[in-house]
Amino acid sequence: MSVGTDRLTRLMARGAEFFGSDYAILAGAMSWVSERHLVSAMSNAGGFGVIACGAMTPALLDAEIAGTKALATKPFGVNLITMHPDLMALIDICAQHQVSHVVLAGGLPPGGAIDKIKASGARVVCFAPALALAKKLIRSGVDALVIEGMEAGGHIGPVSTSVLAQEMLPTIAEQVPVFVAGGIGRGEAIAAYLEMGAAGVQLGTRFAIARESIAHPNFKKAFIRASARDAIASVQIDPRLPVIPVRALKNAASELFAAKQREVAQALDEGRIEMGEAQLQIEHYWAGALRRAVIDGDVEHGSVMAGQSVGMVTKEEPVADIIATLLAEAAEALERR
Ligand SMILES: Cc1cc2nc3c(=O)[nH]c(=O)nc-3n(C[C@H](O)[C@H](O)[C@H](O)COP(=O)(O)O)c2cc1C
Repeated sequence: MSVGTDRLTRLMARGAEFFGSDYAILAGAMSWVSERHLVSAMSNAGGFGVIACGAMTPALLDAEIAGTKALATKPFGVNLITMHPDLMALIDICAQHQVSHVVLAGGLPPGGAIDKIKASGARVVCFAPALALAKKLIRSGVDALVIEGMEAGGHIGPVSTSVLAQEMLPTIAEQVPVFVAGGIGRGEAIAAYLEMGAAGVQLGTRFAIARESIAHPNFKKAFIRASARDAIASVQIDPRLPVIPVRALKNAASELFAAKQREVAQALDEGRIEMGEAQLQIEHYWAGALRRAVIDGDVEHGSVMAGQSVGMVTKEEPVADIIATLLAEAAEALERR
């Protein structure tokens, strides 16, 4: 084993042990993309795959876990959105399948959720958007944390990965394993975050268009064509109409979203519409948009969620090859230290 590979193995040992995988590399859950094929390919290749439950019903999640189990030879996880109305029933489904790791995304978990997951024997992973919340989650019993910067694809917070890593790793990395996400496209960055104290990393954009991903060919082509500056965060135009920032490739839908906000704001000014209805119209604008892009291939009017690392995605390749490349780059960087 080369010095670099040996160093990498040691730096990843804690994270790999936590997930029961060969390498401490997660493919973050991506709604519509992270289903049985990509998730099982990820875990079978030595990383850790996570099913994106998204808005699935308990029955659909049940079927997806069963389908993934049939393809996977190694453990995988399930990502649940905390505001899902059936969260507790979804946790029950995970427990019935003895899912080893449950990731809770989309805000602080409601009371009882963490304990319920732990009671099933599974480990709980949460997203920590700031240091104070990370400490609170650790006190609540989470087993590991993900810190995700605004370079990432999908729903994002306001702070960059490099700043979150500097602010949080020195304080919390000894208490629980911490996985760094957002903007990671190459192994050199993985090596750097591991050296800063991360137990591992989570990537989404780099795996979204893997050979095993069921994403539509148009979605894959859009990723291959795009550069970092094409992956832009949605912008709120009117202070009365909240917009949760989402990073996606700019297209007709993102242009029309600005026009929609202006139109609704004007209707508010002119008293033609109530505030509640106005906010709902903005909230519902993107409903179904990710599915339209990923499954239907409408990359102009759907939401092509992608992180800034999309510029480093240059071809469709098997998950195992992506992992091998990342590991080789990381090992080479560590060898040079
Ligand atoms: C197409 C797409 C869909 C995503 N959907 C979800 C989701 O449903 N739940 C979630 O927790 N994160 C979601 N994410 C975030 C990823 O899990 C991951 O944390 C993120 O992509 C990491 O940053 P990167 O894109 O820079 O690699 C999504 C990301 C992408 C690109």
